[in-house]
Amino acid sequence: MKIGVLTGGGDCPGLNAVIRAIVRKGTFHYEDGFVGFVEGWRGLLEDKTMELDLSSVGGILPRGGTILRTSRTNPAKHADGLQRCAENLKKHGCEALIAIGGDDTLSVAKKLFDNDVKVVGVPKTIDNDLSGTDFTFGFDTAVNIATEAIDRVHTTAEAHNRVIVVEVMGRDSGWIATYSGIAGGADVILVPEVPFDIDQVAELIRQRHARGRYFSIVVAAEGAKFADGNEKHCGSLQAGRDDFGHIRLGGIGSTVASEIEKRTGFESRSVVLGHIQRGGSPSAYDRVLATRYGLGAIDMVHRNEFGRMAALRGNKIISIPLAEAIATNRKVDKEILDAAIGILDKLDYKVSKNPELTTK
Ligand code: F6P
Repeated sequence: MKIGVLTGGGDCPGLNAVIRAIVRKGTFHYEDGFVGFVEGWRGLLEDKTMELDLSSVGGILPRGGTILRTSRTNPAKHADGLQRCAENLKKHGCEALIAIGGDDTLSVAKKLFDNDVKVVGVPKTIDNDLSGTDFTFGFDTAVNIATEAIDRVHTTAEAHNRVIVVEVMGRDSGWIATYSGIAGGADVILVPEVPFDIDQVAELIRQRHARGRYFSIVVAAEGAKFADGNEKHCGSLQAGRDDFGHIRLGGIGSTVASEIEKRTGFESRSVVLGHIQRGGSPSAYDRVLATRYGLGAIDMVHRNEFGRMAALRGNKIISIPLAEAIATNRKVDKEILDAAIGILDKLDYKVSKNPELTTK
């Protein structure tokens, strides 16, 4: 069978491992042939392809990025876009398409499926916020990078008596912030799920310092929200919106740092990890997970399970309807948020119950 493959949306470590698994199992076990559509949906829309065979996937397992490259193109925004995609698949003799991407990419995959294109989805997002699957590849790598950054920031914050705010990715959910915040021993974790009161954050840090600590680490997801709803802190509309209507986020770290400094008088700085979290080699966990997703997807094609996505449940790869995957954004599990809250300082606790600790 001839199968088209594309990667859409923001890249993340592990994409190449998925592509490699699809091509290797498809070639060795099913005698499939492949067409790589480059730059996400743009490639299918504008008929831009590359060869995809055993030799093109050789040596790509540990490489970040995606050999197919990617974009945030939305064919549904272009005149006859979906129809053109279907025609280009036919033109190349592709009987099926494997689309590797997040909710935006998979929402287009669902539309194509509704237009009789045989599509299978593979979940991809560094943010780990796709519904229906426990973990997406790339997330583990990002958490490891963010944790290492927090460890490094710790030593310099401690040396200088500073508050340092580390801004991590997470547009609609705070998975990276929560995991790296727990792993890195952050003092405050700010996530989109729980709008924060900056006065309380500042007071918590003030009380922590009052009981003898002289530095603090705050981890903020880029999409974290001020409780007063002041969204201007969270991003910039100047860059416009992408094809799926998203604004470019960034800047919450520096805003939070300066608000803390204003309220506490403690010298505060911020660092933005940005695309460092998405670049470079995938962790061993992500290589294995991505490989399993790729194998799951090619098997689904040969079981005629179209309009569906490979998903991780527990430790099993299963298939779920695309509609379920794109229905809602997956928020951080309550248990994980509780774990984060459980380990953090509690406002007023030490000061009121251990007054002797407040003397410094
Ligand atoms: O959607 C994943 C994500 O990494 C978000 O966390 C982030 O806001 C966005 O992509 C950044 O996208 P881009 O690389 O297009 O600036």
